[in-house]
Amino acid sequence: MTEAVPATTVPAELDDVAFPVARACPFAEPAEYAWARERSPVRKVRVRGGEEAWWVSRLAEGRTVLADPRFSSDRRRDGFPLPGADKAVRERFRSQPPSMIGMDGEQHAAERRALIGEFTVKRLAALRPRVQEIVDGFIDDLLAAPDRSADLVRALALPVPSLVICELLGVPYADHDFFQNCTAKLVSRSTPDDERGRAVDDLRGYLSDLITRKEAEPGDDLFSRQLARRREQGELDRPGLVSMAFLLLAAGHETTANMISLGVVGLLSNPDQLAALRADPGRTPMAVEELLRYFAIVEAATARVATEDVEIGGVTVAAGEGIIVSGLSANRDPAAFPDPATLDIARGARHHLAFGYGPHQCLGQNLARLELQIVFDTLFRRVPTLRLAVPIDEVTFKPDAVIYGAAELPVTW
Ligand code: HEM
Repeated sequence: MTEAVPATTVPAELDDVAFPVARACPFAEPAEYAWARERSPVRKVRVRGGEEAWWVSRLAEGRTVLADPRFSSDRRRDGFPLPGADKAVRERFRSQPPSMIGMDGEQHAAERRALIGEFTVKRLAALRPRVQEIVDGFIDDLLAAPDRSADLVRALALPVPSLVICELLGVPYADHDFFQNCTAKLVSRSTPDDERGRAVDDLRGYLSDLITRKEAEPGDDLFSRQLARRREQGELDRPGLVSMAFLLLAAGHETTANMISLGVVGLLSNPDQLAALRADPGRTPMAVEELLRYFAIVEAATARVATEDVEIGGVTVAAGEGIIVSGLSANRDPAAFPDPATLDIARGARHHLAFGYGPHQCLGQNLARLELQIVFDTLFRRVPTLRLAVPIDEVTFKPDAVIYGAAELPVTW
């Protein structure tokens, strides 16, 4: 098995490598991942910042970990792996109430039950015409550019999910520069800790004020409905509500935005796949799954800490030890996806880990799917000559961000 990876592409030892490894190329996983995957599906690695954690590199073991309640999502617990985070970041997690992504057990299930009705298939089907209208509006503006060129991140990828999530939550879209900037600082690993701390405080302050306004003047939106629901139940935990709002606003736009721009890069760079999609737009849902698999933009959000000793993949993860399921590595696991380095929109990739797995599997996944399907369908239909305005190696990617993506995407048509 080990001979399958050429010796020149991998380190002799992984001791000097900090995980997650920055991506050198948008299309390839770091060579260390295949190396680790072929040797041991669960192995100890050094994570950024210096501490150690278990690294899960195959899909099967990744699912097992994410479905096992003995692994906790509580970022306040000792040993929870937060790659690159310093003491201040850890303290911040301890001082603020967690959002659902950091809760366990019944507390998590109750929070999820409170929100799940907002993301049902029926609710999302009702949103479709409005999402289409939003996408068409931004594409109208794009096509109006006099020099037939634009930065697709600013013109489409970021505004579409931002406006959609604003309307769903009840956040004024006029404030998009503010919340987009805060989120961008949060997800960049190069943001100095004090600046990241300020971004968290600013966004929490903003959302707290917004919720106060909604208490006085409720609207037809998710935040107002959550306020009413929680008041009816008699316990209005304001800081907890702000944490929920924070998660939904940040996760609701930054993730999908990066998937839109990378999806466009992926399809433009694989003209045969784009042609197949154009020939049969009915393939878009499957193409979206494959793009999600291929880019796995949030590769290390699926971190946990063991609450007791757990045997997995031939090793014992001891109580208190951190473990990271790498979505990127799992999505390139040849046992689950034959010829995994090839983008193949017909492969049927829905079992990927891009949205996680188990009780914390992405709450907004069907909203993201809806937006991605409408964007790709509409963009390639209405702008058939769309192409990159610079060679691919001149596009600036975000190798170090918690959510991978393109910083900007110059296109022309
Ligand atoms: C392409 C877009 C997206 C990707 C790749 C993505 C990825 C993920 C992943 C990997 C998780 C699991 C984290 C874990 O296991 O700890 C997650 C959870 C979550 N996502 Fe997404 N997400 C996307 C879009 C969205 C959108 C649009 C929303 C907002 C409505 C959203 C809201 C959430 C929430 C609330 C959770 C926590 C669920 C829980 O803890 O039960 N996501 N997402």
